[in-house]
Amino acid sequence: MRISEPKVVAALPDLGVELCPGTPLAEHTSLGIGGTTDLLLVHEHKHLPELVSLLDRHAIPHRLLGGGTNLLVADGELPWVVLQRARSGHDVILEGNFALVDAAADLGRTVTYCAKNTLGGMEGLIGVPGTVGGALRMNAGAYGMQIGSYVREVKLYRAVQGKLETLRGSQISFEYRHTSFAPDDIMLSVKLELPSKPFREILEGIRVCNEKRRSSQPLNQKSAGCIFKNPPGASAGLMIDALGLKGHRVGDACVSERHANFFVNTGRATAADMLALIADVRERVRAANGAELENEVIVWKD
Ligand code: EPU
Repeated sequence: MRISEPKVVAALPDLGVELCPGTPLAEHTSLGIGGTTDLLLVHEHKHLPELVSLLDRHAIPHRLLGGGTNLLVADGELPWVVLQRARSGHDVILEGNFALVDAAADLGRTVTYCAKNTLGGMEGLIGVPGTVGGALRMNAGAYGMQIGSYVREVKLYRAVQGKLETLRGSQISFEYRHTSFAPDDIMLSVKLELPSKPFREILEGIRVCNEKRRSSQPLNQKSAGCIFKNPPGASAGLMIDALGLKGHRVGDACVSERHANFFVNTGRATAADMLALIADVRERVRAANGAELENEVIVWKD
């Protein structure tokens, strides 16, 4: 979608917003898939509410892109513009056991920065790509931990109500890859409370998690992490593998040879290829096990 309304285009610089016309989202997603639209790069998050209301007033549909690492975006010209926070240099402030983190901060860098300052707990998240805001929304987790356990406060913009709000951790429900945030909530920042640990101990935890991840996941290929959530008490990867589906493909969308719940783009896969592969694998698992696999990956289709 192209922003053609001159009043909107003219207002963007005052809001610290950079307009990147006709941006291929394939360049902004870890799957390397996604059509074209105008990308609005937001340099200062204080202007986000104003930007959202400007777009709403002019009936311009919009979506917020985090790190693009758990996302499958449709092909072709997209029917909405995309907002993305520009990274700021200074995105983590430490106060005792609290880390105040900008939602646009890189998750891995945040974990490492806290570790260097002897704040641990998030070792399992090392190697999970994306932003802190994205991790928060999905309650990212690995190796027995989840980010939600450390959240004490979240500042967000509730686009539907048009208001800024601060939620205490206890007001938010963090479940397995699911949270109680509304779809239109825009995370601004989070306060995490992390346990103090000796640096060496955190480093060792990080090393072990990195090693496990390297040996079981296709880290050097284009993917969105796990495609399906694990059904209660079961493993989607194990079920897909047991059906002999590693290497199964639609076009260049392929079930990873390394981890069957990772679907990789081996070349020029389209969203249509990836969606067809997802539907096919889901159907095969349903036929074989009676299990209904639910997407973990977020799909932006319409
Ligand atoms: N397995 C297979 N074949 C495969 C994949 C897995 O036999 O192709 C087996 C493994 O050997 C293991 C079991 O299935 O016995 C579970 O596999 P794994 O330990 O890799 O964990 P997972 O349940 O597949 C989850 C998360 C990952 C997270 C890892 C490590 C989900 C959907 N996935 O994977 O998160 O990194 O545990 O904690 O919850 C993600 O969310 O995108 C993600 C990658």
